Amino acid sequence: MKRVSIHDLKAMKKRGEKIAMLTAYDYPTARILDEAGVPIILVGDSLGMVVLGYDSTLPVTMDDMVHHTKAVVRGSQRAHVVGDMPFMSYQTGPEDALRNAGRLMQEAGAQSVKLEGGRTVAETVRRLVEAGIPVMGHIGLTPQSLHQFGGYKVQGKTPAAAVKLLNDARALEEAGAYAIVLETIPAVLARLVTERVSIPTIGIGAGPHCDGQVQVLHDMLGLYPDFAPKHAKQYAHLADEAGRAVREYLAEVAEGRFPTEKESFMMDEAALSELTHLV
Ligand code: KIV
Repeated sequence: MKRVSIHDLKAMKKRGEKIAMLTAYDYPTARILDEAGVPIILVGDSLGMVVLGYDSTLPVTMDDMVHHTKAVVRGSQRAHVVGDMPFMSYQTGPEDALRNAGRLMQEAGAQSVKLEGGRTVAETVRRLVEAGIPVMGHIGLTPQSLHQFGGYKVQGKTPAAAVKLLNDARALEEAGAYAIVLETIPAVLARLVTERVSIPTIGIGAGPHCDGQVQVLHDMLGLYPDFAPKHAKQYAHLADEAGRAVREYLAEVAEGRFPTEKESFMMDEAALSELTHLV
């Protein structure tokens, strides 16, 4: 089956067709998303928080990203898989960025990579694109700059900050990025950026006017117990459902109601009778 390409995604913007992106970090969830028809799966460094239990994305390594991206690629056939570049895998310069993005494409099988930043990473984006690596940009509340921002705060709220963000989006487009994530910025600014760039914008906490939306899977499925961001809508409450299932299992084991004959393996009559004579 042919995977969704960056050209398909750009064509979706031209047709005014909304692009829905979701994160996944493992084989079974990648299968669920792919079979449901999700066009882009992001193996986000958010895995540091929602899967590995860190309190930010900063500790996530290239090896973590390669490991999880491989599983998502194995679990999908049609979706475009984006591998996220973790903290310090590209900030140290284009050479490191090339080597690390190359790992996500070559070892893990991603179809593109994502990195955070605007004008300051434009040269790096250009180098990756020249090397044949499609790049998704990411501006606004970029979680790898958490300590620079002093917390997870809405970005682009002043006119000067909004102009800077628009210029960052233009710099990414000029450098050859094929799409840009806009995270936690005012909806009116996301609309302006979406109108002023020709590549798709994918919003998270950026209002309804972006060309697409992205959510962290654990937020939308109610799987992450520590925190629910304002921009996330819970479409299910799977942590509650999993807790209920585990409590039922505990009770059944304690009361001897699990396993039953249905979950047990039998021995045929002849073998059983021979065994009875042996012991
Ligand atoms: O890591 C991630 O999941 C992301 C999305 C929030 C866009 O970068």
